[in-house]
Amino acid sequence: MWSSDELLFRNFTDLKNLKFDDEKLSTTTSREQQKTEDSVEKCYDRFQQMQFLNPRVAQLNRIQHQQYLDQMLLNLPNNYQCLDSSRPWCIYWTLQSAQLLNFSFPQETLDNVVQFLSKCRAATGGFGGGPGQYAHLAPTYAAVNSLCIIGTKNAYRAIDRDSLIKFLFSVREADGSFRLHVDGETDVRGAYCAISCAKLLNVPAPVANELFAGTADWIARCQTYEGGFGGAPDLEAHGGYTFCGIAGLALLNQADKCNQKALLQWTLRRQMSYEGGFQGRTNKLVDGCYSFWVGATIPITQATLVGADKAMEQTFFDIGALQEYILLCCQKANGGLIDKPGKPQDLYHTCYTLSGVSVAQHSQSAFYPQVLGDLTNELSPTHPLFNVPPKSVAAALKYFSNNSKNDTDGNHS
Ligand code: FPP
Ligand code: ZN
Repeated sequence: MWSSDELLFRNFTDLKNLKFDDEKLSTTTSREQQKTEDSVEKCYDRFQQMQFLNPRVAQLNRIQHQQYLDQMLLNLPNNYQCLDSSRPWCIYWTLQSAQLLNFSFPQETLDNVVQFLSKCRAATGGFGGGPGQYAHLAPTYAAVNSLCIIGTKNAYRAIDRDSLIKFLFSVREADGSFRLHVDGETDVRGAYCAISCAKLLNVPAPVANELFAGTADWIARCQTYEGGFGGAPDLEAHGGYTFCGIAGLALLNQADKCNQKALLQWTLRRQMSYEGGFQGRTNKLVDGCYSFWVGATIPITQATLVGADKAMEQTFFDIGALQEYILLCCQKANGGLIDKPGKPQDLYHTCYTLSGVSVAQHSQSAFYPQVLGDLTNELSPTHPLFNVPPKSVAAALKYFSNNSKNDTDGNHS
């Protein structure tokens, strides 16, 4: 067994008893689950064989991940063409991953990023997925988060808060829900992205109250009989939408509009007994990205249920098992992280696997991060409601504390 402080690797031999039992009824779903467990088992077996010979098997490949991110920020490969309308997302996933790994990019590169994101700003307010594209709530959230991570005066100035507020009103529906873009679909991602941007940019309370009148009630309608949230009322509960639902409600201080106990139970049941990572919905497969979507939902829900301080004393998910899954099953040797063994690395999974590990390490104690394996595996903390560093949240709130024309710089200039 390997240890760092109190956190130990599980006994992977005993753990085999927890592998899925199809009770002699083989289905497509049961076979997929068994196939996934077998690929995870290979990773855990490799760790058992190698742990004393090569301690690197339990380490975060920091250098490789940094090289991967450095390369991706400057030059996206051809297969990212399908993300041409998500370019602020590629930037956000890269910047957020870098800050979790505690490294930064040269100032000149960051200045270029700010210039590029300014070109994505739409005349109607908000940001599009690339220069000249229509404003959309998802790239708007990614651009705002990216600019707040950069946190310089120029970065803040690239956000035109007044026109962004106009954009938010333009996608608001009378019932408090939000369309992703003008004439686009309505789902809980829209509500969360709108709330997150408005809160991070310190939109004054009277404006926010008008903007989000009815929104908490609409989000609460997305909670299903299972306890998680679907994309819109009457849809299947899913980890991604569940995060958007509870984070949105928590940011509005209205988490009591949903059934928080049912939500907590649903999220805790998403952790896979053998794999240690989370699935996104009932009867589906483990996936590294839910380390954040489901992983962050747990401390958020505990905090809204019993208060942030007390939440740390409550029953939590297995923060060691989650770190095992990411460390041993989700790292690519040449950098970047993945959904599950056998998949290729990508920026989205790199960001949300690392964000989930950060939540696992920092949410149980404010003072002693719970790090599995090598101490160099410790990641920087992230704010579970916005998924940017807590210091970036504080600096943005300060910069935008009076009005959007505020010229006072944040903490890091
Ligand atoms: C199912 O994919 C995925 C969804 C239904 C949407 C997931 C939503 C998010 C990740 C939240 C996005 C949040 C913001 C802030 C924009 P799948 O069927 O391929 O995966 P599964 O088998 O794991 O359910
Ligand atoms: Zn995924």
